[in-house]
Amino acid sequence: MPAFSDPSDHQAADQALLQPPLQNDSSAPSQPPLRLGVMASGNGSNFEALATAIEAGTLHAELVLLIVNNPGCGAVARAERLQIPHKVVDHRRWTIREELDQELVRTFQAASVDAVVMAGWMRIVTPVLIHAFADRLLNIHPSLLPSFRGLDAIGQALKAGVCISGCTVHLVSEELDAGPILAQAAVPVLDTDDHASLAERIHRQEHRLLPHAVQLAASRWTQG
Ligand code: GAR
Repeated sequence: MPAFSDPSDHQAADQALLQPPLQNDSSAPSQPPLRLGVMASGNGSNFEALATAIEAGTLHAELVLLIVNNPGCGAVARAERLQIPHKVVDHRRWTIREELDQELVRTFQAASVDAVVMAGWMRIVTPVLIHAFADRLLNIHPSLLPSFRGLDAIGQALKAGVCISGCTVHLVSEELDAGPILAQAAVPVLDTDDHASLAERIHRQEHRLLPHAVQLAASRWTQG
């Protein structure tokens, strides 16, 4: 039985399921802005959500460098429009995952980033990257982890017939989509949902959740 069966009520449903308004860390501005690196493979809407939150003053950070693995992907166009430095590290040039990750580490370290956000990075990462940014590598995933790890989490949720799905921001560990959870938002699955409609509503919550989770992690790092 679906949690919300009236499609006209989906905004109310979103609100009913979501946590209270996300609070930001008021102590953050006394610190220098967090130097953030971002990795993206596709559209880049979560990358832009970080830029929007920085502009709005709700995330105390600077987007130092975007790395994409797909030349010409949407994230590149966003970076150009927002005038954020970006670089293509095309995974097709490497046959060994660890060597690709070594290049990512080198590039981010050369840019002196404090932390890295995987905002739609659709490649498996190795301990080379994970250990170089120990506890400072974040990932956003379109499900309520630990449910529906791996590829096409939204398709998995629809296939399983769950009533509630959502999104998760977590620290990256060696096990896929299994690191410590920083923040989650719930999204109802409606009777009428298809992949596109559910993805659209999950994205809306991701754009709200990701900057909040990064700020939360940053406040923990600065408190030691
Ligand atoms: C987001 O929904 C993100 O959760 C997902 O890719 C999308 C990227 O959207 N990530 C994964 O599935 C990682 N396993 P965007 O390019 O518009 O930010």
